[in-house]
Amino acid sequence: MTNSLQDLPALPITRRKFIQTLLGFSIVSTLAGIFIPIVAYLLPTKAQADAGGPTDVGALADFPVGTGTVVSVNDTPVIIVNTKAGGLKALSAICTHLGCIVAWNDKKNVVESPCHDGLFNPVTGAVVSGPPPRGLPLYELAVKEGRVVIGKPLGQIYGS
Ligand code: FES
Repeated sequence: MTNSLQDLPALPITRRKFIQTLLGFSIVSTLAGIFIPIVAYLLPTKAQADAGGPTDVGALADFPVGTGTVVSVNDTPVIIVNTKAGGLKALSAICTHLGCIVAWNDKKNVVESPCHDGLFNPVTGAVVSGPPPRGLPLYELAVKEGRVVIGKPLGQIYGS
């Protein structure tokens, strides 16, 4: 009994074709491994796309005249102040000096940074005194059906 190649049935795929297919698969896999993470990084996820949208921070009654309250807007602290002079305003709560979180000072009726006594105007966010180099940026603010809704910052936030 002889066992020659001619006795074997014809293979549906040649060795050369098999190696070419394997090489092609390898190249496609390598390119996918490079480009899929890049595309995933560049395209925002749904959660990221939703971040930055208007944020309901509470009822209008939660922010009475003469108060300032720090709230979180898309994981960023924002102080909502309500004054007789300026009404309801939203300011970044991140001090422009070294990034401390500001608070409402109801004795002085100003926004105060507790770290180095920086004081800010609660209506405009401008520096009143202290070391901060610039004022606190305002945020978009709207009252819709009795709810206070905060939008985008109208200036550069410290650290961003
Ligand atoms: S961090 Fe606000 S005054 Fe220094």
